[in-house]
Amino acid sequence: MSKSAASDATARYRPETRLVHSGTLRSEFGETSEALFLTQGYVYDSAEQCEARFKGNEPGYIYSRYSNPTIAMFERRMMELEGAEAARAAATGMAAVTTAILAPLKTGDHVVASKALFGSCRYVVEDLLPRYGIESTLVDGLDLEQWRRAMRANTRSCFLESPTNPTLDVLDIPAIAEIAHQAGARLIVDNVFATPIWQSPLQLGADVVVYSATKHIDGHGRCLGGVILASQDFISEHIHNFMRQTGPSMSPFNAWVLLKGLETLAVRVRAQTDNAARVAEALAQHPKISRLIYPGREDHPQAALVKKQMRAGSTLVGFEVKGGKPAAFRFLNGLRLSRISNNLGDAKSLVTHPATTTHQRLTPEARAELGIGEGFVRFSAGLEHADDLIEDLYAALQQA
Ligand SMILES: Cc1ncc(COP(=O)(O)O)c(C=O)c1O
Repeated sequence: MSKSAASDATARYRPETRLVHSGTLRSEFGETSEALFLTQGYVYDSAEQCEARFKGNEPGYIYSRYSNPTIAMFERRMMELEGAEAARAAATGMAAVTTAILAPLKTGDHVVASKALFGSCRYVVEDLLPRYGIESTLVDGLDLEQWRRAMRANTRSCFLESPTNPTLDVLDIPAIAEIAHQAGARLIVDNVFATPIWQSPLQLGADVVVYSATKHIDGHGRCLGGVILASQDFISEHIHNFMRQTGPSMSPFNAWVLLKGLETLAVRVRAQTDNAARVAEALAQHPKISRLIYPGREDHPQAALVKKQMRAGSTLVGFEVKGGKPAAFRFLNGLRLSRISNNLGDAKSLVTHPATTTHQRLTPEARAELGIGEGFVRFSAGLEHADDLIEDLYAALQQA
């Protein structure tokens, strides 16, 4: 295996170029498209070589739970895109989130997180950690004073997502990073909704970034994956050994699919963001919509912050259909082009009713506190023509 001619110097290129070339390793066959190393293990020329690999005295692959050339290409491409020193790929977004949060902690530590989290992330912070004697405090992520007040001497990590799922609030990453650092804690950011194209949390002061690669990075609804990006020290000290021994590793096949997804990520995210903006514009004044939230609009509650920390809005739009759950369901059932799903970031437009799916685990009061009403709908813009999407949404709203 050799590095491609371009890959030595790819970090200096712009994101679009890095998405196509970073991390490429070429085998002796000189393939254009990255090879899929669908292998569990590796063979050695001698017992001495095998011993040297295990002792870490000779570079090379040992077992695909630890490392694999196709996964290494995916990790390298993500690192260069994100501007991170190191990365580890995981089987799913939740494997990445759980590992990034849990692996560095021990009994007696404390975590502060924003309340507005994807349901499974909130489960990890709220239910799982306390079972192992790791306390957690949930705060209103928009309220910096709440973050400040929640910090304790034993606070080790802060965790947030921005824009939030599904209400698309935008949290002040530099300010929260500063609060965390002053308390001696790290900030972990789930950057799924922003995508690496529109927001770079490490450059905003965060210490760790996690992705569900299942979403925009694949972008075609094919496979699951996740990735943790951080400093070399954080990955070496906390993540590498945990993943090696406990095994939430990515499949080489999925790494290969995701590498191909990365090649078109910038083009897709831009087109999907344009579609989301068109849909938001078309729905904002619709008489059957009581509230619309889109991070690219001037009427977004944190519009100034969006301009400061994001390069553009989002591929997602949130809105409240008047008439609660019955009206929202009539609307969803009336759609012919956009499909009902709990997923997002796909080439196909997808529509979700969070109260009965991604956030059904929460009590109605907890949902209300987050602004997830019974009529709230999350729209993930795909790559269809915006006019077709808008016509479909309007037709369905007539039935709501
Ligand atoms: C914000 C966010 N974080 C994490 C995840 C988990 O990712 P995965 O489904 O790949 O485990 C999801 C979606 O499922 C998500 O929307």
